Amino acid sequence: MLRFEGKVAVVTGGARGIGAGCGEIFYRDGARVALLDIDGEAVQAKALSIDPSGEAVIGIQCNIADRTDVKRAFSEIISKFGTVDFLVNNAGIARDAMFHKMTEEQWDQVMLVNGKGLFNVTQEAYRIMREKRYGKIVNVSSTVSSGVAGQSNYAFTKAGILGFTKSLAKEAGRYNINVNAVRPGLINTEMMNAVPEDILKGYIANTAFNRMGTVAETAGPICYLCSEEAGWIHGEELIIGGGIVYR
Ligand SMILES: NC(=O)c1ccc[n+]([C@@H]2O[C@H](COP(=O)([O-])OP(=O)(O)OC[C@H]3O[C@@H](n4cnc5c(N)ncnc54)[C@H](O)[C@@H]3O)[C@@H](O)[C@H]2O)c1
Repeated sequence: MLRFEGKVAVVTGGARGIGAGCGEIFYRDGARVALLDIDGEAVQAKALSIDPSGEAVIGIQCNIADRTDVKRAFSEIISKFGTVDFLVNNAGIARDAMFHKMTEEQWDQVMLVNGKGLFNVTQEAYRIMREKRYGKIVNVSSTVSSGVAGQSNYAFTKAGILGFTKSLAKEAGRYNINVNAVRPGLINTEMMNAVPEDILKGYIANTAFNRMGTVAETAGPICYLCSEEAGWIHGEELIIGGGIVYR
């Protein structure tokens, strides 16, 4: 039997990058998967590329920052798959600037998606999980939560996600729901395209392997945290950063 057979996984930001990588592993290992993304066309194309039958993997257009959109997405998931077992809160954005140059818009956008978006989606999934007394929630934070110049808004949200994870873990354990966070660092996705080349070189030199991590190396540990083998891991933060050291 495949390890995720009979399970339903929801992954936000599933059109590409780490979220799409999670979708591939969940499907490979037997789960039915709902990929949510603000980019509707891309997420539907990704879902079909993973499962051409369109039966076990669906792509749903959803702006996680919009509560009405999130509620609509969850009713679609329930009518298609009937329940939710796993939630990967993966969607996130960066709007980098040195703090003295940061605009209110840059600050607000990051809060809205990385903060409010995570709240919106988690409440929908948690309600279902709490009722059935089963669930696995993995929140995608970042090594940046330790502090990086030019990313104070992003770090604020990614550090907040760690506090959120530990707090929700204290509430959710009694309902048999695991809540954990991962802190990836320097993963080779489109998000990294926004980083200037000289800065990226410096980041890479800070890893023990002198390279970037891959999507598979990140999605694998995230999916592991949803497996039964990881059932006793709760309220934790797992660094997936190739020994990265931020100075
Ligand atoms: N790439 C890295 O090095 C790295 C490191 C640490 C943490 N992370 C985190 O991992 C997560 C995924 O990152 P990635 O590198 O795969 O990024 P990515 O930019 O390649 O993918 C993010 C996806 O989220 C979607 N998205 C953005 N805003 C959304 C919204 N409002 N509603 C729904 N979907 C939305 C995008 O359309 C995109 O498909 C993010 O939370 C990011 O902060 C990434």
